[in-house]
Amino acid sequence: MANVVVIGAQWGDEGKGKVTDLLSRSADVVVRYQGGVNAGHTVVVKDQTFKLHLIPSGILYPDTKCIIGSGTVIDPAVLIEELDQIEALGISTKNLLISETAHVTMPYHRLIDKASEERRGSQKIGTTGRGIGPTYADKSERTGIRVLDLIDPEALPQQLNWTINYKNVILEKLYDLPPLDPAVVIEQYQTYAERLRPHVVDSSLKIYEAIEQKRNILFEGAQGTLLDLDHGTYPYVTSSNPVAGGACIGAGVGPTMIDRVIGVAKAYTTRVGEGPFPTELEGTLGELLCARGAEFGTTTGRRRRCGWFDSVIGRYAVRINGIDCLAITKLDVLDTLEEIKVCLAYEIDGERCEHFPSSSRKFSQCLPIYKTLPGWQQSTSECRSLEDLPTKALDYLKFLAELMAVPIALVSLGASRDQTIIVEDPIHGPKRALLDTNNVPLSS
Ligand code: IMP
Repeated sequence: MANVVVIGAQWGDEGKGKVTDLLSRSADVVVRYQGGVNAGHTVVVKDQTFKLHLIPSGILYPDTKCIIGSGTVIDPAVLIEELDQIEALGISTKNLLISETAHVTMPYHRLIDKASEERRGSQKIGTTGRGIGPTYADKSERTGIRVLDLIDPEALPQQLNWTINYKNVILEKLYDLPPLDPAVVIEQYQTYAERLRPHVVDSSLKIYEAIEQKRNILFEGAQGTLLDLDHGTYPYVTSSNPVAGGACIGAGVGPTMIDRVIGVAKAYTTRVGEGPFPTELEGTLGELLCARGAEFGTTTGRRRRCGWFDSVIGRYAVRINGIDCLAITKLDVLDTLEEIKVCLAYEIDGERCEHFPSSSRKFSQCLPIYKTLPGWQQSTSECRSLEDLPTKALDYLKFLAELMAVPIALVSLGASRDQTIIVEDPIHGPKRALLDTNNVPLSS
């Protein structure tokens, strides 16, 4: 039995979907603990490709329970669309459970997200426009609608009447937008409630029961460490806590119940939206990584900004999340390069800096200090073991493991499940705390 948290060690889109899909095979329960329909992963079933934003891909395994936890925000229209897609394939969704204390994204959240981005002009965050920030803001302001309100036929009209009238003042007076009709929204959300009601549970209790029964639980983070509201590149962040600690709050479990943290990082770096990115590559090399890595957002289709691997943020992610081992994805994207750079540290105002600075202003002034490694210029997509890898590719991986003082348990070389090298069992292999961090081998 092991309870494992899988998190993104960069700015999201690290390939967590594939890693959680692989690990879901040995999980009894998969819990999504934060974020909303801003996330996205592509799933291929029976030659059909579809995109999921909220439902964990564990739903494709018939005996795996999937829980959308308390720390998430749920857009019911999108969730119902996902349920329809899955059911249309003949896959049962009875194992999908929804937390009664998750917050609900309403039409005014989406409108305010888009309008406030427009109003920010050059100060914009580059959000996904899915209403995520405003839904979490209402949660903090204590004007949010929770799933248990959504499915309460008496409470919902009362609460929505008040809230929509309050939000209409903001829509009309601040953003010059037409007001929403409370009756229309109430009717629409009551229909959603009927569809979702059978899935709604006290999720932290369900998770606790699974822990008591010694089930394997996988806590799946969305987005990535540098998008964390508290620990990321604020204000260019999302509004939840994708870091490993967020699993405890978002799922409602104590820290003593987590056995292991697996960090997922690309062999290079990408980011979508605004905000500083020291190793960003502009020009042909950036274009090449984008094209080879198909770096376009699943949710918005936006082109992802691409750059070299940054070990400063890598080490930061190890520290903030307590990462035990890493999954390195998309190594094959680097196959054609003659030389590959890795950022070792930054230079700020002529001084060497080994640590990620909390200030975004300072971060935007960071100049990367690189080490250049030779490329392997050979295809790795068919490699299935470390021995199959070109020596220079293996050296690259060893260098990343050394820089971050964490063993690499898994290497991904393409989108399909079999394009993976399992270096060691990511769930039961030795933990980082047991290793001599001055001498970290690729595999512990
Ligand atoms: P929001 O989460 O839509 O409010 O967007 C805030 C920031 O997080 C923006 O820079 C988005 O591009 C980024 N973001 C949100 N979700 C994801 C994701 O799943 N992958 C990568 N970036 C994301």
